[in-house]
Amino acid sequence: MSSTTDIPTQDLHVAIIMDGNGRWATAKSLARLKGHAKGADRVRDIVDAAMDMEISHLTLFAFSTENWKRSEGEVLGLMALFRRFIRSEAAKLFSRGVKVRFIGSRDRLDQSLISLMEGLETQTADNDKLYLTIGLNYGGRDEIARTAKKLAQMVKSGEIEPDDIDIDAFAGQLDTNGLPDPDLVIRTSGEYRTSNFLPWQSVYAEYVFEDTTWPDFDNHLFAKTLEEFKGRNRRFGAVSSK
Ligand code: IPE
Ligand code: IPE
Ligand code: MG
Repeated sequence: MSSTTDIPTQDLHVAIIMDGNGRWATAKSLARLKGHAKGADRVRDIVDAAMDMEISHLTLFAFSTENWKRSEGEVLGLMALFRRFIRSEAAKLFSRGVKVRFIGSRDRLDQSLISLMEGLETQTADNDKLYLTIGLNYGGRDEIARTAKKLAQMVKSGEIEPDDIDIDAFAGQLDTNGLPDPDLVIRTSGEYRTSNFLPWQSVYAEYVFEDTTWPDFDNHLFAKTLEEFKGRNRRFGAVSSK
């Protein structure tokens, strides 16, 4: 795939809102969970494609803090799918040099899933080929509120002064601390919104919205979104030299 695009990908952070599993299944008269299972297959392919293109950072939105509003059956099915995914993919992710990190609150997750997440983070901690970050029970507002609470506690304990709180200090306490900001945010399935995904981190990200549902988002479309990104003129508030 690297031949399809000549964008320098080494320092690229691509984040994806993987939307449309349910609609993919419904269109085929299948249960929504079949769509989620197909979506998990797509995650494998896109991680492989990211590695082939030597993208350094890939962040995937798997489950939002609002997704608990879904039926108990769908939520339990998704949690079982996350457990299965970690069990089946851990060895390959480790051997390919992927460093996995989960962002989001662990509050409502069950202990068996938390143990698998922590195990995968520990197992892959020393890898550096692809930084794969997975938003699981992630919500940007929740992350920002938890960060404010952490900083308030640090002030209360005397560790820092209120004056020490600036953009860098705040970013340093977010779940994403140490990660570069996303350069490109892709959302599949024709919805033009961000649904609480990385609001702090994406203020200067480029967005590409694709009509295709996530289970049908193939490597060719992935390369196409990168091409579109490549044509964007990023200014970061300055005056363009182009
Ligand atoms: C994305 O697909 C996966 C999750 C949010 C867990 P959806 O389940 O939101 O699929 P649609 O949007 O209903 O088609
Ligand atoms: C965003 O998709 C969350 C994930 C992809 C995990 P949703 O399907 O939950 O978003 P809304 O409800 O359409 O905004
Ligand atoms: Mg959706």
